[in-house]
Amino acid sequence: MSPYPVERPRRLRSTPALRRLVAETSIEPRHLVLPMFVKEGAAEPVPIRSMPGVVQHTRESLRKAAAEAVGAGVGGLMLFAVPEESSKDPLGRAGTDPDGILQVALRDVVAEVGDATVVMSDLCLDEYTSHGHCGVLGPDGTVDNDASLARYAEMGLVQAAAGSAVLGLSGMMDGQVGAVRSALDLAGRYDVVLLAYASKYASSFYGPFREAVESSLVGDRRTYQVDPSNGIEALREVELDVAEGADIVMVKPALSYLDVVRQVRDAVTVPVAAYQVSGEYAMVEAAAANGWLDRERAIVETVTSIRRAGADLVFTYWATELAQILR
Ligand code: PBG
Repeated sequence: MSPYPVERPRRLRSTPALRRLVAETSIEPRHLVLPMFVKEGAAEPVPIRSMPGVVQHTRESLRKAAAEAVGAGVGGLMLFAVPEESSKDPLGRAGTDPDGILQVALRDVVAEVGDATVVMSDLCLDEYTSHGHCGVLGPDGTVDNDASLARYAEMGLVQAAAGSAVLGLSGMMDGQVGAVRSALDLAGRYDVVLLAYASKYASSFYGPFREAVESSLVGDRRTYQVDPSNGIEALREVELDVAEGADIVMVKPALSYLDVVRQVRDAVTVPVAAYQVSGEYAMVEAAAANGWLDRERAIVETVTSIRRAGADLVFTYWATELAQILR
């Protein structure tokens, strides 16, 4: 017996060229989707305090940022609207107004980027409701699932008409994929892609996002979002959404749920997305601002980990910058 180790994994780590040759996971700009916020009536981009580097866009700055993302090769753009407080009501009517801020922004961005990237929109009521919930409320004050589905179906048609190619169903109502899919089918819009936030957890990591969209929510979303302790239930949600016609399924947040990303990737044959959410972004930015970690390495490492876990697409607020780093 040789006194030396026969297997020496370090050999393959000894030079940058060798490491590059045997790397199992890579990120390409096309895998990245940039979430963007557009604020109704804004004259200047408004910085989001808890997300340094991210802003609520004006219509004009949104177009510019969209063009910049396309220049970097980003695979998709996901638009979120921030309506004026006075546009909010209990039913979230601004969300189905053909001239509501999201629809206006969709037309702007589609005109700017054409088919150079995939333009997507968030389909949820929370940005538009005065109570901040993702659905409408019943007489008892709880979220009324089926009444919300009717609102989602209408939103889907309005967003599709405004040019959205992919609808991001993030409300976590039961049957939402089926409801929007059948409304689109009845209208002959077989072309619209449904991206189901199939397994969206009731997470503390959405904190900064609530500032970003000026959320009116009091309380929490635990009656509709998945309990962080559950993994099998995530698979159930994913199965239902695929059966209802989802084209892509998402796990959200990403970093605390990498086990779920892997299980979902192994369970379905549609593309899997993961959303590196606002709190994940904020943690890295805050630590980097303190000099506690290397910001650029942390960005690459976190997104690489999400890809390694099995995500085909990664939603990240660093999409444009990361795409530029990768080039
Ligand atoms: C709801 C929605 C949320 C996020 C995306 N869509 C917030 C929530 O459920 O409270 C969070 C995204 C993030 O934190 O980056 N429409």
